[in-house]
Amino acid sequence: MALRRFLRFPGREAKGGARVKRPYGAGMTGLGKVVVLGAGNVGGSLAQRLAEMDLAKEVVVFDIVEGLPQGKALDIQESAPILGFSTRVTGATSLDAIAGADVVVETAGLARKPGMSRSDLLGKNASIIRAHAEAVRTKAPNSIVVVVTNPVDVMTYWFRKMVGFPPARVFGESGTLDTARFRWFVADALGVAPRDVTGFVLGSHGDTMVPVLSLTSVSGVPLVKLLPADQLAAIVERSKQGGGEIVNLLKTGSAFYAPSASQAELVRAIARDEHRLLPVSVHLNGEFGEKDVYIGAPAVLGRAGVERVVEVDLTAGERTAFTASVAAVREDLRILSELPG
Ligand code: LAC
Repeated sequence: MALRRFLRFPGREAKGGARVKRPYGAGMTGLGKVVVLGAGNVGGSLAQRLAEMDLAKEVVVFDIVEGLPQGKALDIQESAPILGFSTRVTGATSLDAIAGADVVVETAGLARKPGMSRSDLLGKNASIIRAHAEAVRTKAPNSIVVVVTNPVDVMTYWFRKMVGFPPARVFGESGTLDTARFRWFVADALGVAPRDVTGFVLGSHGDTMVPVLSLTSVSGVPLVKLLPADQLAAIVERSKQGGGEIVNLLKTGSAFYAPSASQAELVRAIARDEHRLLPVSVHLNGEFGEKDVYIGAPAVLGRAGVERVVEVDLTAGERTAFTASVAAVREDLRILSELPG
């Protein structure tokens, strides 16, 4: 009798023999279901990180290529006995998979190929996002959306517009990635632990991004006191080209390890209601003197999404660079608004 009881899954059978769903995973955290749209390198790596962090009961990876999301999901799932996570990982080729999601991460979209203009990419990715936003609006109306698709500040604006959610529930990932690169370069130059370097890279996720030296420190010691100006300038420049440096090394494709780590950090902030102060692409409504634009700015993130945007003090030079970065995003938004369809 004792052995029989031991062999059964607890909760597998209710009284009277009726079968109930076996509870699995994520008992401590708030997320039931996370849906990752796109099973490319970024989407696949993100699903793996999310599973290993045990942040949700269920992670679903969606892609239009039959077999790709199912194959990656099963491969990740089969690591569970070794790694010890309880998250259920599945793949899907139907947008019905979005149903009931607590968090949706949009990674789908094309990367620029030779001969393609920036506005070609804008148009193609905008049409993918339009379809996904429609599905999210109808199937997961209370979800929080994290947009990753490039150009991310423009695509986040577009997703928000298409899905119709309050801006608090749609934000973009870019600043945590750019800041991670910047933090690493600083840590490497100083020979200190990467996690002890904190700071912000603000503005758009592009050539105009703004690594904010005045707000960067090593365990509270201002960075500007630790490195000479020429070395700081080199780190700023390398950070701004961080994505391109990886693209050039890889020859095909772009970065996905640091990007997926950055995205997982954001999903964790939501799942565990951490109230993290992180740089993300957020909707500005007067903060930094800007309205109706998505751009990288410091925000507090928790279970409700963006709790508030934090308007930090910038030096005059940083402020000018931030304003120029907003202008670059607005130019892409203008191009997008003039595309047919
Ligand atoms: C990067 C691309 C993915 O910065 O945006 O690596």
